[in-house]
Amino acid sequence: MERFYTTTAIDYVNGAPHIGHAYEKILTDVIYRHFSQRCEDTYFLTGTDEHGIKIQKTSAAQGMSPKELCDMNAQKFIDGWKALDINYSQFIRTTDAQHEAIVQKIFDKLLKQGDIYKHSYTGLYCQGCEAFLSEKDLTEDGLCPDHLKKPEEVSEENYFFKLTKYKDAIIKHIKTNPDFIVPSFRANEVINQLENIEDISVSRAKSNVSWGIPVLGDDEQVIYVWIDALSNYITALGYNPDGESEEKFNKYWPANVQVIGKDILKFHSIYWPAFLMALDLPLPKQILAHGWITIDQTKMSKSLGNVISPTGVLESFNQEIPDALRYYMASAAPCGKDGNYSDEDFKEKVNAHLANSMGNLLNRTLSMLVKYFDGDVKAEFKIKSDLFDKAIETVKAVKHHFDYYEVQEAAQKINELVDITNKYVTDNAPWTLAKEEKMTECGQVLTTVLEIMCVVSSLIYPYCPNIAKAMAEQLSYDLNTKLDNVTCDNISVGHLIDKENIKPVFLRMDSELADKSKKS
Ligand code: MSP
Repeated sequence: MERFYTTTAIDYVNGAPHIGHAYEKILTDVIYRHFSQRCEDTYFLTGTDEHGIKIQKTSAAQGMSPKELCDMNAQKFIDGWKALDINYSQFIRTTDAQHEAIVQKIFDKLLKQGDIYKHSYTGLYCQGCEAFLSEKDLTEDGLCPDHLKKPEEVSEENYFFKLTKYKDAIIKHIKTNPDFIVPSFRANEVINQLENIEDISVSRAKSNVSWGIPVLGDDEQVIYVWIDALSNYITALGYNPDGESEEKFNKYWPANVQVIGKDILKFHSIYWPAFLMALDLPLPKQILAHGWITIDQTKMSKSLGNVISPTGVLESFNQEIPDALRYYMASAAPCGKDGNYSDEDFKEKVNAHLANSMGNLLNRTLSMLVKYFDGDVKAEFKIKSDLFDKAIETVKAVKHHFDYYEVQEAAQKINELVDITNKYVTDNAPWTLAKEEKMTECGQVLTTVLEIMCVVSSLIYPYCPNIAKAMAEQLSYDLNTKLDNVTCDNISVGHLIDKENIKPVFLRMDSELADKSKKS
């Protein structure tokens, strides 16, 4: 793979980021960082979705202009992702002038070529979805199934996009590309939805919704959020519908994987491909629909008061680095399935995996190297070990899981390698070897473990970049090593480390702190 372009959904800015938004960004960042260890040229786009009736109403309720609300809340997302070390290449806001101008041109092109037409319409609009719903989408009580609110009846003259024209082509694409939608069990769901699709409204009357991108040459209409929002994936790269696009677009489009939540799969696997087909652009290679995060097994909602802020979690657990939360969230669910956040589980898992198993293994091995050998590695310590085959097998297995975006499963493989290495230390008891003055054997065991820890630092890096850096530093290991070049021959003969440079890479979370977080 020469280059890798990935995107996340862009979040609505009517509030601050919560742990569900954070889950998606962490998941994508872990995938992105993993593929950065395999490709030379990578790009990662995220951002915020700022137009629409929801923002218009929220800002009015808060006595602000829509733009003021957007500026205030977009900053919270930017700050939140910084605190989580989300290593995006670009943060797009749909109020960016470049985005707005390109969306207008896209709309105009589709209008001129006949894919968009004007039509009077009465429909049921759900503000939560920012979409018209049909009767059959609703619950028995006539509510939106996702937002449990009654959609509002809207009668307007809108612009419509000829979605039906692309129906057969999309069905064909999904059927002939079984890995287009990940996980594949969702593809059938999409095919069923496609059977019943109709043309879709792509604008709103300005008299009802003023906070949107105006349609070129029509003062009465603004472009409706989904065509505006979905276009971000190409406007960010400098796509030009009328002429030469920027080099970035030619280089990165189509995206390798677009990561979104399962609730917006319809928009990404039906509307988005149709818009792209109408623009004569290639479709993204894959759409990854992740599951939802619940809190203590309950759906997160403002009314239940259980909305969790990711930076709030870092603060209440006194975490200076986000690695523990990143690790926990990224491995919260199998690919595409729902996951759960709970304070107790968070503390338990990261204490067990990051502190007790991984961190402690490195710490005590380095401490023994200093205690018995003044931190020196001798030539006779460097032997071949079966453990090395296991480590290289683990690298392959981790790559294989990431090929299928099985981020939780890949983490399990890393843990297995750490567990086997811990068992190797127990079985070979280097402290007993030292007592028995079998110093060469003792040094061999320690050096073997350190070699494995170099591999572990590479593998854990996408999840825990700061911990991985701290490990690599103490091992004098080059963390920029591409995964294909990872070997078990990284520890050089000579002086490796002094006592004062051995530092725990991750401290256990104590129960007092966890209790404090519960109270707050
Ligand atoms: N603005 C649209 C997306 C436009 S993409 C061109 C939107 N915004 S959102 O803020 O409601 O959601 C943003 C992302 O967060 C979506 O992918 C959504 O699935 C995800 N999540 C929101 N709540 C979530 C959980 N509780 N758990 C996991 N992800 C969830 O939809």
